[in-house]
Amino acid sequence: MPDCNNIVRAMFFISLFGYARVLENGLVRTPPMGWMSWGYYMCGADCEQNPDKCLDEKLILSVADTFYNEGYQEAGFEYIIIDDCWSEHHRDRDGRLVPDSLRFPNGMKYISDYIHSRNLKFGMYTNVADVTCMRYQGSKGHFKVDADTFAQWGVDYIKVDGCFVGEQYLNNAYIHFGGYLNKTNRPMVYSCSWPYYIEFIHNKKPDYPTISKHCNLWRNYHDVVTSWSAVKNIIQHYEDEYSGLEKYHGPGHWNDPDMLIFGTDSLTEAQSKIHISVYAMLSAPLLLSCDMTRVKGYEKNLLLNLDLMAIARDPLGIMARPYRIDYITLWVKPRMPRKGDIYPSYSLALVNVSGQKRTITVRPSNYGLNCTDGYSVMDIFSKRFLKNITFEDSIDVTVPSEGKFGRSVDCDFKLFVGARKNKG
Ligand code: GLA
Repeated sequence: MPDCNNIVRAMFFISLFGYARVLENGLVRTPPMGWMSWGYYMCGADCEQNPDKCLDEKLILSVADTFYNEGYQEAGFEYIIIDDCWSEHHRDRDGRLVPDSLRFPNGMKYISDYIHSRNLKFGMYTNVADVTCMRYQGSKGHFKVDADTFAQWGVDYIKVDGCFVGEQYLNNAYIHFGGYLNKTNRPMVYSCSWPYYIEFIHNKKPDYPTISKHCNLWRNYHDVVTSWSAVKNIIQHYEDEYSGLEKYHGPGHWNDPDMLIFGTDSLTEAQSKIHISVYAMLSAPLLLSCDMTRVKGYEKNLLLNLDLMAIARDPLGIMARPYRIDYITLWVKPRMPRKGDIYPSYSLALVNVSGQKRTITVRPSNYGLNCTDGYSVMDIFSKRFLKNITFEDSIDVTVPSEGKFGRSVDCDFKLFVGARKNKG
């Protein structure tokens, strides 16, 4: 007979097992959230010709102000990351990286101090080759001095790309660079693009046990671009590759499906709901990349929906499991038990990309929700309590096409007793 205790034991096993593999910097116990320049600003170096896409000090400080003033920080958005194209094309006399003097006239420590004064965190970018993907200064031959420089600048997060080098080099370089980061004694989140290059450029299988030991997060699929089909492909990839990827995912070590494309006029409201909800269900990093003044009202409501962000930042950090039911994908994510409770909660998301409205019947016990005390069901978007169910009940769900139906299901003994009494 299935009961709640079996589930609880399984969940604690998962979380303990995950802990042992974590990189020893203690960072990102929940997936990192923030903003990164590349998706929207790309190189952003030609500020005269293209002032609206200029990657400079003013932009970075303005993102910090928006996070601080407009509720993003409270929702969990924290890291502000400068991607490629921030440096001069030469190093200084001591071999150190030099920020572009026109776009970053006060240097990186100034930016980092400003960001820290807002209680936010600062991220930067480099590549393990001698140049970056956009052919700015890379870190090959300078791992120690670059790690030290980032630490001196007060960097909290470093994205390390892997363009232009061979498989063997990648496998060694990420481990070595990580070693130098550790030796700085400044905890820096280590974001590696390592498995992406191994799999898609060198056509080999990434060694995830090793990668997850050395990196806090890792890109493993193509760059997102500002289109719904790019987002759909990424979600499909995570659905197809679930069983290969979920094992290595958890507190301190995350699969990274790349940035959110909110604020870029690329998605309808329904598509935006799917984009953010599936990423929250995956416990994926949530990194915006846009002009923050162009975030639409409905996008902001989603980003600042604390119930949704609680799904994204659930302390167990489990990657939701996908089940295909006809044309619908049901994502199921075990959640930390609610305060004062010992039984796990679950979040369920149903995504329909069939082009037609569909109705399906979901029997929670078929998907691991087999707590004999039953569940109370709540709709995340309307914030309404829906009903109490026993674990044997079924729920009929109508899912609009490319619409998203998000529910958080809590196992709560007391609620279930109340419901049973009512049934008489
Ligand atoms: C690669 C990465 C992107 C971005 C660019 C910068 O394509 O995958 O996320 O960092 O390089 O050049």
